[in-house]
Amino acid sequence: MSVVGIDFGNLQSIIAVARNRGIDVVCNEVSNRFTPSLVSFGPKQRYLGETAKTQEISNFKNTVSSLKRIVGRTFADKEIQEIEKQYLTVPLLDVNGQLAVKLNYKGEETTFTTIQIFAMYLTKIKEIATNETKMPVSDCVIAIPAWFTDVQRRAVLDASEIAGLNVLRLINDSTAVALGYGITKTDLPEDKPRNVCFVDVGHSSYTVSIVSFIKGQLTVKSRAFDRHFGGRDFDRMLVDHFAAQFKTKYGIDVKSNGKAMIRLMAGCEKLKKVLSANAEAPLNIESIMEDRDVSSMMKRAEFEELAQELISRVEAPLQKALDDAGLTVDEIDAVEVVGGSTRIPALKDRIQAFFGKDLSSTLNQDEATARGAALQCAILSPAFKVRDFTVQDITNYPIKMTWQPTPEEEETELVVFNKNNAIPSTKILTFYRSEPFDLEAQYAEPESIPTGINPWVGRFSIKKVEPVNGEAACVKVKARINIHGVLTVESAYVVEEVVKEELVDEKEGAAEDPEAPLTRKVKKLVKKGDLPVVSATSSLDRSLINELREKEMEMIASDKLVVDTEMAKNALEEYIYDTRSKVNGGIYKDYINPADKEKFINDLNDAENWLYDEGDETTKSVYAAKLAELQVVGGPVIQRYRESDARPTAARELRETINQLMSQATSSEEKYAHIPEAEKNSIVEKCSKAQTWIENKEERQSMMKKYEVPAITSAEIRKQRDDLIYFSTPILNKPKPKPVVVEAPEQPATPEPKASPETKHDDSKDMDID
Ligand SMILES: Nc1ncnc2c1ncn2[C@@H]1O[C@H](COP(=O)(O)OP(=O)(O)OP(=O)(O)O)[C@@H](O)[C@H]1O
Ligand SMILES: [Mg+2]
Repeated sequence: MSVVGIDFGNLQSIIAVARNRGIDVVCNEVSNRFTPSLVSFGPKQRYLGETAKTQEISNFKNTVSSLKRIVGRTFADKEIQEIEKQYLTVPLLDVNGQLAVKLNYKGEETTFTTIQIFAMYLTKIKEIATNETKMPVSDCVIAIPAWFTDVQRRAVLDASEIAGLNVLRLINDSTAVALGYGITKTDLPEDKPRNVCFVDVGHSSYTVSIVSFIKGQLTVKSRAFDRHFGGRDFDRMLVDHFAAQFKTKYGIDVKSNGKAMIRLMAGCEKLKKVLSANAEAPLNIESIMEDRDVSSMMKRAEFEELAQELISRVEAPLQKALDDAGLTVDEIDAVEVVGGSTRIPALKDRIQAFFGKDLSSTLNQDEATARGAALQCAILSPAFKVRDFTVQDITNYPIKMTWQPTPEEEETELVVFNKNNAIPSTKILTFYRSEPFDLEAQYAEPESIPTGINPWVGRFSIKKVEPVNGEAACVKVKARINIHGVLTVESAYVVEEVVKEELVDEKEGAAEDPEAPLTRKVKKLVKKGDLPVVSATSSLDRSLINELREKEMEMIASDKLVVDTEMAKNALEEYIYDTRSKVNGGIYKDYINPADKEKFINDLNDAENWLYDEGDETTKSVYAAKLAELQVVGGPVIQRYRESDARPTAARELRETINQLMSQATSSEEKYAHIPEAEKNSIVEKCSKAQTWIENKEERQSMMKKYEVPAITSAEIRKQRDDLIYFSTPILNKPKPKPVVVEAPEQPATPEPKASPETKHDDSKDMDID
């Protein structure tokens, strides 16, 4: 079983695996260390990752991007409508309260929820990891943004289950980075913590986290975000700039054309990257739209001027993270930057200026999150032994519970988990109730969660509550933020007060008052049985997950069939070309019966024509049947050709064996002297027979045409040789009888008689039994 960490990025995802020798980043099918986070659909199959990227422009209407931004969201979500839609090229819709996409799959208009789309992508990730490790992949840790809410986290967990992955932890991405940092540092302090600020600017979002390290432990102190700040905002800014320029310069409206927009977006991303290392960069796009080529350029100074407002947004989260951690800039020991967009020099400079110190980059800025996730997976997996390292993470949003009060109660709600509460953690709530009741959980500060996400987290119904001795029962409810950062109500139970007798401590006065009782009665709470809890959360029903898993497996099988069919077609095509050229004057020409040749060539030509006509699209079995039909004639031809090569080799080896055995059987060497003559003669006899056999067969074969059924095959010759060896070896290897050791009379002082080998053997047997 492999242990896998996944950095689920908005633009691209990275997979790392833990192995005994360390953490490795996995390459995908085209040897890239990251896989585009794209899923697309075609007339016959799905395209996942790299293949979706290859046809992103031609198939943009059926390509889903921004998987991370849409999973667990709703159609009505303001952020989806106002922001994410700009980056998506497929139409969105609502399916039973879930955000879904509409596209054309296998020639039909189809809808998939974003959870299904995400599951498809995870299927690809799983396949890449399996191909690399050559082992089944199930246990994994997925890195997600720390700002993901309960509904988003549950959506990722549901999608993972649909893809057949067992998530050991959803880890906050910045915490994964911190873990990778901490576990590899051998110089962490024992007492006074080292405070490190991690800054991650990716494609779509920006996270700052302040983490304190001591030996063997990290504690997340604070975190701040700009959820809408990343490389794509710089790309869009450039797109706006060049789209306006091309309108006046070329009179074309790029924004009116979907394909042109994708081309421009890609061109701008490239220009942005070039500008990170150069003072100026060109922008050339061939045939952007209406058969027009466009070209332009930009200087880094101009880019920085345009991006001024964007870049200034970098400071607020840095300040907020510091304030929340209660630290000053001077108390930060190191600033580590990760994420592709921190390569933008102006952005880096701004971060550096804020802290007034050099930025460190001891981590691989692209792979740190995936590596940290794989490490976390190894720590959690029983299959691995990793150096102890404790991860103390925190929640982002406070969660409160509300309930219908009883007449005696004033409280109707309670913040159960505060912001910055440890993950995981458990709280026990106490209620006095005579009947079943509900707890409603929601985010206590709705304005702090992503706009458009419902602050409702779940409803937990505590069942079978009854009065105890005519009074309200004391009910304890166990609420938990689990390892994924998801709220659950794990259990509820009734406790009863029972009166117990307890010995009174002497010190408490018994010594002074001889009349005082030796025992006293005390009230104690005792657990009296569990209550059923029914949870209603945003997680999908088990039955629906199972149904979607089935569907996913069907699509996996269908994609595989498409690949297998394509392979069967290619095999047929290759056979036609290869065999025809070899039969037609090539190496097979003498091995086909001239009477069959013309018909066979015609059959091959017909098969070729069929392939380009009605056989262009058919099933795997039809291709296989066609190939088998051609092989009826072609097979023996190829076989005869191969035999013509293999036969002389086999005959030579047989002769060598005959000669060797003959010379051993007739040898006068001492080592064969103990072998009875009759047995040696039997070898000689067998060898002579084999010699005659091969000579006869070869003579017959030499008189035959190359295209005739051979008189003898290499397999028959090899069998002769094997038979000879099988017969002769035991005779020639017969052990010599051991010489009988006679005690030397002139050595009477020997304390014990020397044992013969047989006796020794017996001795050792005895020892074995002992
Ligand atoms: N040399 C560079 N200069 C400027 N930007 C770069 C450079 N290299 C990569 N980028 C940008 O970094 C972004 C990708 O970074 P990264 O891989 O960290 O994002 P992600 O993990 O996919 O996204 P997110 O973390 O937001 O989900 C892209 O916008 C890319 O254009
Ligand atoms: Mg990232």
